[in-house]
Amino acid sequence: MAGSDWTCDVSTMREWESPDYEPSLPVSEKSNPLTRDIDRASPNHIVRMLQACDSQMFQEEEGTTYQRLLSDNVVITMMEVAERVELILKDPQDSLVVLSGCGTSGRLAFLIASTFNRALRQLKQSSVYSYTIAGGDRALLSSQEAPEDDPILGMLSLKKVCEGKKRVLFIGISCGLSAPFVAGQLDLCLQHPEVYTPVLIGFNPAHQARDEPIPGCTFTFHNVVERMQELSKSQMAFLINPSVGPEAISGSSRMKGGSATKILLEVIMSVAHAAAFSKTPITSKGILQHLKASEKTLDITYSQTEGISGLVEAAGKSLRCGRRVCYLGWGSPAVLGLIDASECNPTFGAAFEDIRGFVNGGYRELNNSEGPLNSLGPEFCIAHEDFVHQVLPSLNDQDTVLLIYTHSDDVSEVMKMARRVREKTSNLHAVYHHVDGDTATALQEDINKLCLSTLKVSWPSSASASSLHMQWELSTKLVLNAVSTGAHVLKGKIYQNYMIDLQVTNSKLYRRATRLLQKLSGRPEAQCEETLLKALYRVDKLTPDITSSDMTAHILTARNTTKVVPLALVCLLTGCSLEEAKSHLEQQPIVREAVEAFLT
Ligand code: F6P
Repeated sequence: MAGSDWTCDVSTMREWESPDYEPSLPVSEKSNPLTRDIDRASPNHIVRMLQACDSQMFQEEEGTTYQRLLSDNVVITMMEVAERVELILKDPQDSLVVLSGCGTSGRLAFLIASTFNRALRQLKQSSVYSYTIAGGDRALLSSQEAPEDDPILGMLSLKKVCEGKKRVLFIGISCGLSAPFVAGQLDLCLQHPEVYTPVLIGFNPAHQARDEPIPGCTFTFHNVVERMQELSKSQMAFLINPSVGPEAISGSSRMKGGSATKILLEVIMSVAHAAAFSKTPITSKGILQHLKASEKTLDITYSQTEGISGLVEAAGKSLRCGRRVCYLGWGSPAVLGLIDASECNPTFGAAFEDIRGFVNGGYRELNNSEGPLNSLGPEFCIAHEDFVHQVLPSLNDQDTVLLIYTHSDDVSEVMKMARRVREKTSNLHAVYHHVDGDTATALQEDINKLCLSTLKVSWPSSASASSLHMQWELSTKLVLNAVSTGAHVLKGKIYQNYMIDLQVTNSKLYRRATRLLQKLSGRPEAQCEETLLKALYRVDKLTPDITSSDMTAHILTARNTTKVVPLALVCLLTGCSLEEAKSHLEQQPIVREAVEAFLT
């Protein structure tokens, strides 16, 4: 275990900012010095490390290295974008605000578009928000990495949602400034400035945008960013790209990247709505106040370190013995459960059953544009009824079930579900959000009694209903990110702070895997890539067919293979054959320990 006295000093907090720290990597891909030993940490230390990493989001700018969330430039650009949103809200005819991204970035685009369309409906205003996500709505619930590499798909899906519109504010999200899908959409906007105004949200400085050629395209992400920078001088394009520090698990942008995306966009939309409908002018002070409120959300959430650690421990135990973790939620925080669960496959090589989310009301609550997706298979069944039919019958005490609800939900329904789950497993826990001063009802107490633990998060009663919901969502995101990440750490899926069993299902992940092999084996890049391909195609010698194929073909093959990176690493470290590496890993399925055995 990492020392029981784990603390983080200021120099470790800022170590990643040094120009000498992993200089070849963009911030979003660097490893975080705070979590170097996360793989050997106790649940409590894991949560404290995650807290320290998250708090880096709000660090002040120091010197000139990186602009931060609270930097003047960022706040000013947020104001400018909010003003554009306000214009559309006041005159929505033939106009649209489109949010778009890949993976978690696309899921958050969906969530934010839904939240603010709902707010408009409540005000009897017409909807102005729309979303696109690489891979379509199925990507809201499952990993679809290959479409992230497709700029044409991005462009076509943007054109489709904007059909007939004369004015579009396009907000592309790519935490790493790297997704070709988003690059294609931004390029379309740049080519048609009479209709589109592009905004890019990401968490690397512009010069660190990905500069790798995109097959079939004349531009790279980097080129697109350069063109946007030029146009930003005349406010024809906007770039919001503060640094939030490296992720706790290297490259896992679903964590801080996702949280910062949610914070930035919700602040922009909130101040724009207040300006359009309650005559509250958009000011930098107002924006800063909202940002500070998000920082407070982090503080309130992490004041529950003990409770979160208990959940991490329970979930980790379940995963370690091959059992499952289920999030059963009500209202919009439940959607954060779906989002968290959907990322476990590409991030940790998890099966979809390992961690699953369910929402009361299923697709009715989700209200996604393609409607119910149940027919696509069991992983797309997301309603509580689906949980009752598919999962509940086989649950036992080794499975962890987490109820996620708030004081505004129908507590009697929560009670009913809690009782049903308790018949199968005593390993039932709850995350419950309520406002200060709210006294627990008898029913509430009964639910608590049925649960092994209840994380009761109290929120200031002064907040408006809409900001309360956003706080609950962010808080739920932080808790669930900690649960799923911590549980996989405890399962031994992480080496130091690298996801070693990652899926190699798009070009970014392919490059990340090669880099990781280089780092851990110390072998040259070419040898690492060759060994990666051998592990991917399960051959000891590469055939001409394989060597002449492009990365797209390799990525397609990777969809159906497992343990590619661990196998390649064992081969590189020992020089053994793939069969031998496979049997080593079978004997030691905890990837971290298998890798450690070879590294020492
Ligand atoms: O490739 C998968 C993935 O890494 C997801 O984990 C992530 O949510 C998504 O890509 C988006 O990355 P970005 O926001 O940097 O484009």
